[in-house]
Amino acid sequence: MISRCLFPAAGYGTRFLPATKAMPKEMLPVLTKPLIQYGVEEAMDAGCDVMGIITGRGKRAITDHFDVSYELEHQIKGSKKEELLDDIRDIIKRCTFTYTRQNEMKGLGDAIYKGRVLVGEQEPFGVILADDLCVNSNGEGVLKQMISLYSKYKCSIVAIMEVDPNDVGKYGIIEGNEIENGVYMVSNMVEKPDVGNAPSNLAVIGRYILTPDIFDVIKETKAGKNGELQITDALCEQAKNGMVIAYKFQGQRFDCGSVDGFVDATNYFYELNKDNK
Ligand code: UTP
Repeated sequence: MISRCLFPAAGYGTRFLPATKAMPKEMLPVLTKPLIQYGVEEAMDAGCDVMGIITGRGKRAITDHFDVSYELEHQIKGSKKEELLDDIRDIIKRCTFTYTRQNEMKGLGDAIYKGRVLVGEQEPFGVILADDLCVNSNGEGVLKQMISLYSKYKCSIVAIMEVDPNDVGKYGIIEGNEIENGVYMVSNMVEKPDVGNAPSNLAVIGRYILTPDIFDVIKETKAGKNGELQITDALCEQAKNGMVIAYKFQGQRFDCGSVDGFVDATNYFYELNKDNK
């Protein structure tokens, strides 16, 4: 039902400097896999096979990662190391990768707007921010959970989690009524509110299902917090004129855009995989 997924990946990743000076943040590895590959695998698990990546200057490693490396293939042919490429080979075979550039860092709303040439304006699509690495112990990825919900509500959906009230200033925060267990009808959304001024502690994380009318809304949205075009503001407008659902997802999210979250994710996957070595 939803076959396309956007990956906004144009940010500078300044919290990881100097590592991100010449390398995209999305290529930082958690164990041996770059962050963006985890995101692509989550999208595939949800049934997507067209991946639209919004890149910027200095992001060529992402394009190369999702392409065949003939020299490398030749070099390791016949050795045991060949199997290390099995997963990425399978991804390349099963998916189509498309790319566009966001020339100026004007915010997530602008990055998603640039992605309209990749996902078209006819169908709903997923959005994954690869620096939010999500895992689910019972095997159903967050995007897959959201797509199931989409079949019921047929509107834009944001994934949310409860955060410490002192941390609301790092997130888009929603206000809404709980209409079923863990599912909220959004009535308001605020980007990075001041502590004490937030409508709740329900924070939006980097997973969205968007209906294509969002592009018309973004076009009319003015720059907001920090002078950036915020997807939160566009979604707030969409909620007021129609319907947006917020969904408390099942699973765990690591904020790999921060050093602490990245280390937590690394430790988590190390523990999970150390016996398979
Ligand atoms: P962040 O603000 O977390 O990413 O944006 P950043 O700017 O790369 O990181 P820092 O703060 O400098 O360390 C969340 C996501 O939105 C994308 C980023 O690539 C990241 O995946 N983004 C943000 C864009 O693609 N374009 C933008 O203009 C802003």
